[in-house]
Formats: sequence, structure tokens, C-alpha cells
Amino acid sequence: MSEVAVIVVAAGSGTRLGAAWPKAFVRLDERTLLEHALAGIAGMTGPATVVVVAPETLLDAAGAAAPGAIVVAGGASRQASVARGLAALPGGAEVVLIHDAARALTPAALFDRVAAEVVASGAGVVPALAVADTVKRVGAGLVLETLDRDELVAVQTPQGFPREAIERAYAAAVREETDDAALVAALGVPVRTIRGDELAFKITTPADLERARLLLGRDRPVPARRVGVGVDSHAFGEDAAALWLGGVEWPGERGLAGHSDGDVVAHAIVDALLGAAGLGDIGGMFGTDDPAAAGAHADWFLPRAVDRVRAAGFRVENVSVEVIGNRPRLAPRRGEIEAVLTALVGAPVSVAATTSDGLGLTGEGRGIAAIATALLTAP
Ligand code: CTP
Ligand code: MG
Repeated sequence: MSEVAVIVVAAGSGTRLGAAWPKAFVRLDERTLLEHALAGIAGMTGPATVVVVAPETLLDAAGAAAPGAIVVAGGASRQASVARGLAALPGGAEVVLIHDAARALTPAALFDRVAAEVVASGAGVVPALAVADTVKRVGAGLVLETLDRDELVAVQTPQGFPREAIERAYAAAVREETDDAALVAALGVPVRTIRGDELAFKITTPADLERARLLLGRDRPVPARRVGVGVDSHAFGEDAAALWLGGVEWPGERGLAGHSDGDVVAHAIVDALLGAAGLGDIGGMFGTDDPAAAGAHADWFLPRAVDRVRAAGFRVENVSVEVIGNRPRLAPRRGEIEAVLTALVGAPVSVAATTSDGLGLTGEGRGIAAIATALLTAP
């Protein structure tokens, strides 16, 4: 087994991406481009020495992202940065892979295939993909030539070389090339192509960054979703206590009977939340004889129910409530109620109202009912 070293060049500024700081240190998700690139290398089947070439000002950040790696400062051009990386290679490594941190999603298998091909052939190795567009040579705004697409490929990194060849190529370099294989080929060393990988695309522009983020999101597991329903109804009370409905007081409206404030909206939401989380219902959780619940309002019940739901590992996504009754008319205060309930639940709560066409307890005007639906996720 030949010893393998991977030089990751991450010292560019990312002018075309236009982020606030150097491209390799921009986050794709919770991880930066450089961290993703290093994860690909860490997934290789064999061990590899890693050299990270980073901007002078970000050497500490690069070191934190790459524990165990050699970290050196880059130069003014990509080629200058690779040269710094080559100079930092420890003895022992015989196969050298050179990789752009900007190709952050490159799969581990591509590193393995490049390294294996260098070992098997003794040649330089570049991953290549067929060109989809027609490519033309132009000059002074005129097409000079249409190139034969079948003879063209687009090359990626990692590019792999026998150490001796890449060191000699860099020592002999007389001009800037856009990849390392060009310098090796200039020495007359053969460079072979192997099949590249779509995921090894270079993140250059904001659109590339967006594509990388979408590709990462695609692989995330969909969070488990749980839905719950809750229903409550109360008759209007004999003693004309104040009405509490939807977490707010309704002066002048007839109050509802009940051990607590009789707020059917709050109680239905509690049952929907607890039901979705598999935590039973309001009676089981708070007890109809709990003295603390006597006269309690939505601002007592709802935060407690939400706490239980969160402690069980769920996040509340939204709640929808339908109020059924002839009075009071909800429409004028709907926005206020939704704001109060949303704040108490910590997730959007929407409220609708209907009458029941004169039917049943609510239609006869003897009370009010509410039906709530809650959606939870388990991230
Ligand atoms: N690179 C480097 N040192 C430089 C220039 C580039 O290490 N002086 C690295 C980049 O960090 C990147 C890879 O070479 O991982 C490919 O370069 P490119 O995609 O062009 O990145 P930037 O040069 O940073 O971007 P831009 O050209 O848009 O400024
Ligand atoms: Mg560049």
C-alpha cells in the first residue's frame, strides 16, 4: 500500500461567490465547505495524510476544522497555494492528491478511485466528465472554431500524481496553469482520465452554493410528524361570570361553566397537543380537581401543555381551532385571539368560527364548543 497524502486548497477568497468571508469558510448547513470537503477525505477506505492550505488570517479556523491535519498559509494564486502545500508534505507519502475545498460535496469514493488509479498506472490521474454544452473557440467577439465535443471533457479534482512527478512539475513550472495536471503533462508525464462525479462540481457562484444546499437537504430524513385532535364544550353558566374564550376575556358576554375558566378553545388545544404527543388528555394531566387549575386561564394551561410536549421530544408546528357557537361573534377579535394563543403556544395558532345551524347545544345557544388540531414534529 502506497502512502497517500491529500492537499486541500482552501486559500482562495471566493470573489465570484461574493460572501462576506473566504469561500471555504462559508457554511453549507451546519458545516462549512472546507468541513464537507474534509469529511469526504475522512471517508476514504485507507488512511491519508491531510494538508490544508488556508488563508493566512484563518489558520486557526482551518486547524479547528481539520484536527490532525497539517495547516499552512496559501499564496496569491491557486498554483502558489498548491506549491505551499507540496512544500509542507511530510516524508513517506508517495501518492499525492490535490483537491479544491470548493468541490465540497466530492464523495469519498472518488478520492479512493483516483488514488487507486495512480497506484495502478504510475501516471497522473484526473476525474473527467463529458461536456454537455457545445464549446467554441472565440476571439474579438467572433467564433473562430467549433470544437468537437466528443474529444472534450471537463476535469475535476481530486487530481492524483506520483509524488515525484508533481514535485518535479511544480519545480519546473514556468507559468500559471488552471490545474495541476497541466503542469505534470508539460513534463511529458502521461495523465489519464477516470470517470468523474457530478457531486464533485465546483462551488463558484451563489447558484452553485444554492445547488449544494439543495443536494444536502435532499438527503436529510423527513422529521416524524404527529397530528392530534382535541374537542371541548361547555354550557353557559347560571351565575353570569365573565366569559373567557380564546385566552381573552369578553366583557358583557355570558360566561361558561367549568372547574377552570371554561375556555373551550384553550382546552381543545391542550387535548390536541397532548393527543398528538401520545400524552393522554387534559383531565389526566391536570386533573379536574387540581386546585391550581381552579379558575385558571389559557395562560396557565397552554404553556404547561407545551412544556410536556417539548419534554417528550416534539416541536409544535401549528395549531388550528374551530369555534362552534352562536355568540360571541369572533370575527372582530380574531387577530387578537390568534396573537395571544400563538404567543402562549410558541407556534402559529389560527382560529375560525362557525354556527351549527341551530342544531345541538351550541346551535340552541346553550353553550360553546371548540375543535382543535395540532401538528407536531419530532426533529
Ligand atoms: N485557492 C487557493 N488559493 C488561491 C486561490 C484559490 O487555495 N490563491 C483554492 C480555492 O480556495 C478553491 C480552489 O483553489 O478551493 C479553486 O479555486 P476557485 O474556485 O477559483 O476559488 P476562489 O479563487 O476562492 O474563487 P474566485 O476565483 O471566485 O475568487
Ligand atoms: Mg479563483
